[in-house]
Amino acid sequence: MASAVQLRVGGGVGVVVIDYPPVNALGADVRAGLLEALARCREDDSVLCVVLRGARGSFVAGADIREFGQPPKPPSAIEVFAAIENMNKPVVAVIEGVALGGGLELALVCHYRLAVAGARLGLPEIKLGLLPGAGGTQRLPRLVGFSVAAPMILGGEPISASEARDIGLIDALGEGDLIEQAMALANSLRSTDGRPPSIRDLVQHVEGARRDLATLDAALAALVKRGRNRRAAEAAAKAIRAAATEPFEEGLKRERALFLDLLNSPESKAQRYLFFAERTAGKVPPKAASVGPVDVQRAAIIGAGTMGGGIAMCFAAAGIPVTVIDRDDASVARGLGVVEANYRKTVERGGLSRAEMLARLALIRGATSWDDLGSADVIIEAVFEELPLKKEIFGRIDKVAKPGAVLATNTSTLDVDAIAAATARPESVVGMHFFSPAHIMRLLEIIDAKKTGPMALRTALMLGKKLGKTSVVVGVCDGFVGNRMALGRGAQTERLMQEGVLPRDIDRVSLAFGFAMGPCATGDLAGLDISWRIRKAKGRVAPIADWICEQGRFGQKTGKGYYRYEPGSRTPIPDPEVESFIRSRAKSLGHDPGAVGDEEIFDRLMLPMINEGARILEERVARCASDIDVIWANGYGWPVWRGGPMYYADQVGLRIVRDKLARYTAKLGDERLKPAALIETLVGSGRSFADLPPNDR
Ligand code: CAA
Repeated sequence: MASAVQLRVGGGVGVVVIDYPPVNALGADVRAGLLEALARCREDDSVLCVVLRGARGSFVAGADIREFGQPPKPPSAIEVFAAIENMNKPVVAVIEGVALGGGLELALVCHYRLAVAGARLGLPEIKLGLLPGAGGTQRLPRLVGFSVAAPMILGGEPISASEARDIGLIDALGEGDLIEQAMALANSLRSTDGRPPSIRDLVQHVEGARRDLATLDAALAALVKRGRNRRAAEAAAKAIRAAATEPFEEGLKRERALFLDLLNSPESKAQRYLFFAERTAGKVPPKAASVGPVDVQRAAIIGAGTMGGGIAMCFAAAGIPVTVIDRDDASVARGLGVVEANYRKTVERGGLSRAEMLARLALIRGATSWDDLGSADVIIEAVFEELPLKKEIFGRIDKVAKPGAVLATNTSTLDVDAIAAATARPESVVGMHFFSPAHIMRLLEIIDAKKTGPMALRTALMLGKKLGKTSVVVGVCDGFVGNRMALGRGAQTERLMQEGVLPRDIDRVSLAFGFAMGPCATGDLAGLDISWRIRKAKGRVAPIADWICEQGRFGQKTGKGYYRYEPGSRTPIPDPEVESFIRSRAKSLGHDPGAVGDEEIFDRLMLPMINEGARILEERVARCASDIDVIWANGYGWPVWRGGPMYYADQVGLRIVRDKLARYTAKLGDERLKPAALIETLVGSGRSFADLPPNDR
C-alpha cells in the first residue's frame, strides 16, 4: 500500500491514517492508498467499522492544490468518495486540526463525523476562485440546511468543532480515546436497515428549499454580491441551487462541470498563484534562519491612537497581554474607549461572543508611565508619522526596554535606519507596518532595516503569524513597497485631474478593473490631510489635492473631500464645486476636459505602479515580484482574482507594458514613467517578472 495511507486492523476496527506531509492533502498517492485500504477493510470480516483520520494531529487540508492544472491522475477523488459512501461497513471520520475543502468533503462521505475541540472545518475553495468540486455543494446543504451551508461555501470561512456540532455538521465532539468513541458512535447511530446512513439520502432540507426557492435565490444573490471573485461566487450559487432543484447525481454532475470551468479560469489561476505567493512571502529569510524568535509573553504599544488600539486588539486576539501607553490619562482612556466600542460592534454583529470580548479586553491594559516597558518582550511604537518624534521615543525606549526585547516601529514611510540609529541597539529594531484598521487588515510589511538583526526579524515574522497576518519582508525606502507604488499612482491621479479628468471617472475605471474602491474615494476614507502634511513636509506640490485640502475638505471625516458625503453616509457623491474647479483649471492650462479616454486613465493609474514595482525589485527592496503582489492583494484592495500588479503585468506582457510606458513618458514628459531598467532587461531576454529568482535581500 502507498505509504501516504496506513491501515491498522485490530479490535474490530480498521484505522485508516492519511499521512501525507505537510498537510495531508488528497494527492494521487493518498487517493490510491485510500482505495486500497478500503478494499482491504471491506474484505476483512474482522473489521466491523472503519475509522478515517489524519497523521500529525490534522485531518485533511483539501485537494492537493499543486495538482491543479496538471493532467489528472487516477483514481479521482469522486471515485474514492463513492467507495467510502457505498462501503458496507460504517466509516467514521475523526477530525483533528483541519478538515478543509476536499478534506471536509471526504468527511461528508463518511457515515459519521467526530471532531475534537480546536479542529476547524470549512470549504475555503472560494478563496482559490473555485467551488467545492467533490460533492460539497450537494452534501453540505443536505446535512446542515441551505441557509447555513450557503454562507460557508460562498464565504469560505472555517468554523470550530463546537459550531460544527451545533449546526449538525458533526455527530459528536471527540475527546479521550477517539477510536473507541468512533466505534461507539458507529454502533449507537447505526441505521435500522443495517446500512450505514449517507448524507446523499437526506431529503428534509432539499424539500424545504424547493418549497421556497425565492428565499434561497435571494440569499444566494446577496452572498454573490459580497463575493470577491464574482465568477466563482456565481458558479457556487448555481451549484447550491442545483442541490435544491436536481436529483443528487445530477447535482453532482452540475457541480463538477462548474468546478472544471472555474479550475481553468484565469481568475482561479491568479488566486492559486496568490495562495502560494503568500506562503513564499511568509518563509523565514536565510538571514534569520539560524536563530529562534524571542518568546513573546508580553507586549507594549506606544501610542493609543487608531493604529495603537488596532494593534493591541491583534495581540489580545492572539492571547498575548499588551499594555498601551500614551502621554496622559485622557489619551489612554480615549484610545481604549475606541477599542471597546470596536469590540461591542463586533459582538452586536455576532462576530464575537461577549465572554470572548471580556477576555480580550482583560488582556489590554492602559498606562501613562513607561515602567511597564521593562517587562515587555516586544515594544511597538505607533505614534505620529514624524521622524524627530519617533527618534526621541526610540531613544527613551532604549533606556527602559530589557536586553533582547524587540523594538518595532509602525512607521508607514519613514527611514527605519534613522529610527534604529536613535538607540544603542539597532540590531533589535525592526519595522512592523500594520495597515488600518490594524485588527482587520491582514497585511504586515516587515521592514528589515540595514542593521536589523536576525532575532528581531525572526520575531517579527513569528509575531505576524501569531497575529494572523500575512507578512512580507521588505527593505527600507520611502514608503516601503505598498505606499511607494501607491505614490506613483497618486502622482498620475493628480495629473489626470489637472487635465480635467474627474474623481468619479478615475474611480469608475478602477472599480471596473475590480478594485473595491477607487483612489479618490480611498483618499477620502483615509483622510486627505495626512498626505497633505507629508507633501508640505517634503516640499511637494499637488495643485488639485492641495486646493481641496485648503478648502478644509479632508475627506469623509469633514463630510467633503474629492466627493461630498451626506451626514452619516459613506457613499461618495460627485461634488459640482470640485468638478467645476477641476474643469476650469484644466481649461486654463489649455487641456480639453473629457479628452482623456478610459484606456488612458487606466494605463496611467496602473503602469506607474508596475514600473515602481520593477524599480523596487532592482533595488532589492522586495525579494521577488510575488511578494509585491501579496502586498497589493492584502493591503491595497488589488482584486485577488487578478493576482497582483506584477502578475498582471506578466499576463499583459512586459513588452506591451514597456512600450506603453515609453509612449506616456514621451507624451507627458514625466521621467518617472520611463520604463525601469529591469523591465527593459526582461523584455530584452524574453522573460517575465515571474521568471526572476528571489534575490538575497
Ligand atoms: N495542497 C497542497 N499544498 C498545500 C495545501 C493543499 N491543499 N494546503 C497547504 N499546502 C502547503 C503549503 O503550500 C505549504 O507548503 P510549503 O511549506 O512548501 O510552502 C504547507 O502546505 C504548509 O501550509 P501553510 O504554510 O499554509 O501552513 P499553516 O499551518 O499556516 O496552514 C492550512 C495550514 C490551514 C492547511 C493552510 O495551508 C490552508 O488553508 N491550506 C489550504 C486549504 C484549502 O484551500 N483547501 C481547499 C483546496 S481546493 C479543494 O479541496 C478542491 C476540491 O473541492 C476538491
